Amino acid sequence: MTPPATATAADQKDFILSVEGLTVSFDGFKAVNDLSFYVDENEIRVIIGPNGAGKTTVLDLICGRTKATEGSIKFRGKELTDMKEHQIVHAGVGRKFQNPSIYEELTVFENLELSFPRGKSVIGALTFRRDGEVRDRVEEIADLVFLKDHLKTEAAILSHGQKQWLEIGMLLIQSPELLMLDEPVAGMSVAERLKTAELLNTIIHNQSVIVIEHDMKFVEDIAHRVTVMHQGKVLTEGSMDRVKHDPKVVEVYLGH
Ligand SMILES: Nc1ncnc2c1ncn2[C@@H]1O[C@H](COP(=O)(O)OP(=O)(O)O)[C@@H](O)[C@H]1O
Ligand SMILES: [Mg+2]
Repeated sequence: MTPPATATAADQKDFILSVEGLTVSFDGFKAVNDLSFYVDENEIRVIIGPNGAGKTTVLDLICGRTKATEGSIKFRGKELTDMKEHQIVHAGVGRKFQNPSIYEELTVFENLELSFPRGKSVIGALTFRRDGEVRDRVEEIADLVFLKDHLKTEAAILSHGQKQWLEIGMLLIQSPELLMLDEPVAGMSVAERLKTAELLNTIIHNQSVIVIEHDMKFVEDIAHRVTVMHQGKVLTEGSMDRVKHDPKVVEVYLGH
């Protein structure tokens, strides 16, 4: 594929994420095939496409869980393809998987507290001050993810939607500059979906977000731009309004 027109723009503009010519081959099968896309600061990008299109694999590649066969992933100009998973997290990329991974037996507060980033500047004398700092931050994040009245609730008894929010909160408390969410509203009620859209539209003032989703109403509520994937490639990209009327998109995805 020849580089898209945006490749020129990529040279001039500071995208938070630039993915170029990204390919991964599993025993000869290219799950992601020469994929390029660019995400702006404070953008909510939604990736849609049929099952098996390679969407989850793209997130696996960005977060370092899967190694690219070819291509480049630049986050704030830093090449991620040579970095390990924990280094990528440390660089500011947070990723939520499809199933919530929270500690069921711990409370909401404890789950958030455990996710608070520690280690860099903690020395004994500062611990006391830091406890207050942690508590404030936990409460701030709990409020953001609609769980401030559930701080003492054991995570196991939260609703499925609340568990998803808790996990988003556990990522947000680490202040990632890029947050990636794989099908965050799957299994949520309509009301929970609306609140999740509200949450993403709030946090976007501080970070960029990549979301994989199938719920088109939700996508319309959040997407600044939509990238449609098919067979490991970008089928098309643009505003939701343009993409949903694209005959190619209707044919491979929306028509089903
Ligand atoms: N680790 C892997 N080994 C082999 N094949 C894989 C692996 N991960 C994903 N695939 C294949 O890559 C394709 C894309 O999968 P995936 O990224 O999960 O699609 P999507 O999230 O769009 O539904 C599928 O055909 C899947 O079976
Ligand atoms: Mg997937």
